[in-house]
Amino acid sequence: MMPEATDGWTWTYEGFDPDEEMLREALCTVGNGYFATRGAAPGSRADDVHYPGTYAAGCYNRLSSTVAGQVVENESLVNLPNWLALTFAIEDGDWFDPADVELSAYRQQLDLQRGVLTRQLRFRDAGGRTTHVTERRFAHMESRHLACIELTLRIEDWSGRLRVRSGLDGDVENSGVARYRALPGRHLRMVERGAPDEETLLLVVETSQSRIRIAEAARTRLFRGGERFAAPRRLIEEGASIAQEHDLTVVAGDEITIEKVVALTTSRDPASSEPSLNACRWLRWAGSFDALLERHALTWDHLWRRFRITLAHETDVQPIVRLHLFHLLATVSWNSIDLDVGVPPRGLHGEAYRGHIFWDELFVFPTLNLRLPSLTRSLLEYRRRRLPAARHAAAEAGYAGAMFPWQSGTDGREESQRLHLNPRSGRWIPDVTYRQRHVGAAVAYNAWLYYQATGDRGFLLGAGSELILEVARFWGSAATYDRARDRYVITGVVGPDEFHTAYPESDEPGIANNAYTNIMAVWVLRRALETLELLPEWRRAEFVETLGLRREELERWDEITRKMFVPYHDDGIISQFEGYERLAELDWSRYRERYRDIHRLDRILEAEDDSVNRYRASKQADVLMLFYVFSADELRQLLEPLGYQLPPDAIPRNIDYYLARTSHGSTLSAVVHAWVLARLHRVEALEYFVQALRSDVADIQGGTTAEGIHLGAMVASVDLLQRCFAGLETRGDVLWINPYWPPELGTLEFAVLYREHLVTLRITEGTAHVSTGRGVQPSIRIGYRGTIVEVEPGSTVSFAV
Ligand code: BGC
Repeated sequence: MMPEATDGWTWTYEGFDPDEEMLREALCTVGNGYFATRGAAPGSRADDVHYPGTYAAGCYNRLSSTVAGQVVENESLVNLPNWLALTFAIEDGDWFDPADVELSAYRQQLDLQRGVLTRQLRFRDAGGRTTHVTERRFAHMESRHLACIELTLRIEDWSGRLRVRSGLDGDVENSGVARYRALPGRHLRMVERGAPDEETLLLVVETSQSRIRIAEAARTRLFRGGERFAAPRRLIEEGASIAQEHDLTVVAGDEITIEKVVALTTSRDPASSEPSLNACRWLRWAGSFDALLERHALTWDHLWRRFRITLAHETDVQPIVRLHLFHLLATVSWNSIDLDVGVPPRGLHGEAYRGHIFWDELFVFPTLNLRLPSLTRSLLEYRRRRLPAARHAAAEAGYAGAMFPWQSGTDGREESQRLHLNPRSGRWIPDVTYRQRHVGAAVAYNAWLYYQATGDRGFLLGAGSELILEVARFWGSAATYDRARDRYVITGVVGPDEFHTAYPESDEPGIANNAYTNIMAVWVLRRALETLELLPEWRRAEFVETLGLRREELERWDEITRKMFVPYHDDGIISQFEGYERLAELDWSRYRERYRDIHRLDRILEAEDDSVNRYRASKQADVLMLFYVFSADELRQLLEPLGYQLPPDAIPRNIDYYLARTSHGSTLSAVVHAWVLARLHRVEALEYFVQALRSDVADIQGGTTAEGIHLGAMVASVDLLQRCFAGLETRGDVLWINPYWPPELGTLEFAVLYREHLVTLRITEGTAHVSTGRGVQPSIRIGYRGTIVEVEPGSTVSFAV
């Protein structure tokens, strides 16, 4: 059942539905970019219905085991001790479980504006006693180590004994993803537990291999009718957990509130002596639940000013867009800036993909660049710190420069699994998707786009150039000269469409001349040459000397930008890779009829003892990524020097060709298709936009959201509004707008942070208004088509569009 969001800010789920609980948990995660906790019911434990998971950004651990005769090692984002352990029992009954009682009301609400999750329920227990419960919780957006949970019990018609239990549960493991359960998931060992004072509990654990210490401290206070009271507590230490229990006597009409404030710290924290000291200190500094909530809500308010996107029409779009931004900020926010972390595509919301970092930043950074640019910069620094590992990987594979891993974690080595389980067939299959070398192009592209959006010369002179030049260097060496063709070629790769990992009947992994990869390589080489031009002479000299860049190497880069091979077939269709046209056509309607959900066609075919490598069938946009990343003009500027044409009708023909051959097995596919269709087929574009919006709220991939949100698609759906439909672009110190605004969406108003200005853009069908706030910041330049206008602080310009 889809939740409802009536006021555009509050997502409401009615009723308790065990089958849907894990999906809700993922979508009701509260986080602050430092850590996040799934929206699991308080007091629940991991079982078939619940999965309370808590994850701290960058907190990984490695475990190895033997699978199908091979030793496999995986690094995973670690599920940390469960601080949600807060529950109650009536008389001698069991601890509360919504499945055991008669519920007369159950409502769960996620308030995006203030970042608060609330649950209200009313129940009658086996003894006929009626109680009303309100739960509120949040992960503090200002004080990043703190989280709060509060239960208020209204005793309606009974008197007697109420037992309350509050704890920290370290008996947790990573078991949130069924198909990983055959592999070990125990990452934590307990180091210390205790009760530092009358109201506090402390639990310290350590990861088994990375030896990260995590401390959680919890302060529990009791209130009756709003008045604080003390009740003797009993400490309970079991396994790796610690809890306190209170016995209370209540009478009908009582309102009992249990307030629990938790501090979570790790040994990775800056400005900390030691995690347990730090956790206790944060707890001592923490005021009451309400005082903490006030600051938390204020901080969210400040974030929403930057991330404001308002659609005038009453549609479902508005609350979903906000939900997507909410989960972006739960995963990365200003609390992540000093943490040395990347953007995990499944958020800090579940264990899918083990929290690894992929290329999804390509879909996320354009939204951050124009709202929290210092965050993008720090996320790019995550890549810069891993340049030594990427250089080493390139050298080992026989290349120059930096070869970034397809899946990245703590130390920058390749974290992709080498075997994966096909749940349909039960077989472990070799996985060569790590050959997605295009990830490096995305890193360079993100660095360039950040520079374009911010004009941050300091970044360009440092990490920016280093990333772009080292990735260029890799492409310069990965492209080999094919004398017969008089062209450069790139072989042995996998494109963004992960279905094609080898040629049919070949034992060699990878395919040759993936069009997206080759063209991105050309783009990177061109940008690298341009970057060198943009540097002051002294800095260029430093780079040239440190990297040992020789004239011949730069000449080779230049030559590749004129001689890279790009495969074509059928008169103007860019082939996804060389030889694509020789593959068989799939009988799509037969497979749709037979399996209904064919997103993961690769798994279906493998289970049929066939292979998707044999067919012209893609998981997601691959060639079409080119029209997503580049405008038609930019693409022409890349292709024409190579001697290839892109006539106007080539774009719709390519779109139609690949659209008919894509299973959309990745949620990223819908956003890319919406984007590329926007200027050609508005109605279809909107259909894909709606599909992208529904990816997680409606869990369109049938169960994957419960294992973690799809952050790339979430944020890219917001980016569609700003960069695609509103046509916002930052290029050459100008903020360009070029709307293709679908009138169906009504008026759009949104804010961006551009060169110190919090700019408001208002787009309607016929006009675009751009306003800058007052202040002393220098004027900015706004462009529409050929016209560029200088805009002073505190003014508005309008364009008829
Ligand atoms: C997609 C990749 C993506 C990854 C993480 C995969 O299903 O094919 O493109 O990077 O998910 O979101």
